[in-house]
Amino acid sequence: VFPDFSTVDHPNVRQVSSFDELLHTPLDCGVNALCWTRELAGNFDEVAQALGQGVSDLVAIDAEAIRDLAVGASGKQAADAMLNDLARLRSWGLQPELNCIRTYPKDPAVVPVDVYSFHVDEAPIETDTWLCTYAGVPSEGLRNEQARKCTEVAEVRTALLAEFGGAESAEFEAYLRERSYHLHYLPNPDAKLWSFGIGHLWRIAVAWPGCSVPPCIHRAPADVPGQLRLLLIS
Ligand SMILES: [Fe+2]
Repeated sequence: VFPDFSTVDHPNVRQVSSFDELLHTPLDCGVNALCWTRELAGNFDEVAQALGQGVSDLVAIDAEAIRDLAVGASGKQAADAMLNDLARLRSWGLQPELNCIRTYPKDPAVVPVDVYSFHVDEAPIETDTWLCTYAGVPSEGLRNEQARKCTEVAEVRTALLAEFGGAESAEFEAYLRERSYHLHYLPNPDAKLWSFGIGHLWRIAVAWPGCSVPPCIHRAPADVPGQLRLLLIS
């Protein structure tokens, strides 16, 4: 686990202290990640264990399933906190999903474009990504000025050209976009990776036409065998 964002000097992250502030603080002036810093009470690992019974890779959990969980008092407290977050985001017109994750699909390509690779989210219209890790290893972040687009790293570009089987061209650029290579980043050798932490609710910048800040670069952490993650994502 990398150092929590709050312990590293991070000009792109701004901490806020309420959901209202998280909603209404603009992502601008270089700030591309807003964090409602929280210490949630409750036993989220107990909830993860209960929800993860029989889950081999990833499952989306609905509110009913959380409500019906057979857990103790502190598990119930954790479940209520998650239900509150779902309700908050729904009331704002979002469609949050709660995922219980053992592992994500992995891309076996030379330059993998899966969620374990640093990337930015992209959308055709104005939107943000919301996320919170309740249990397991938190999502990981990379500062924009410590990252390079993977398509701009010479060795990677050479490998991608070989995979494409052609020369530099408009077709190659289209190929890169089609396969989402343009959204993936590599950390510079001196990059200080950071952790989104547990229990905090985040709103991060997405690459959309007109976005005034660089999109927030993030990834899923490596799987820990036997461990489940509980993640809210919207
Ligand atoms: Fe993402």
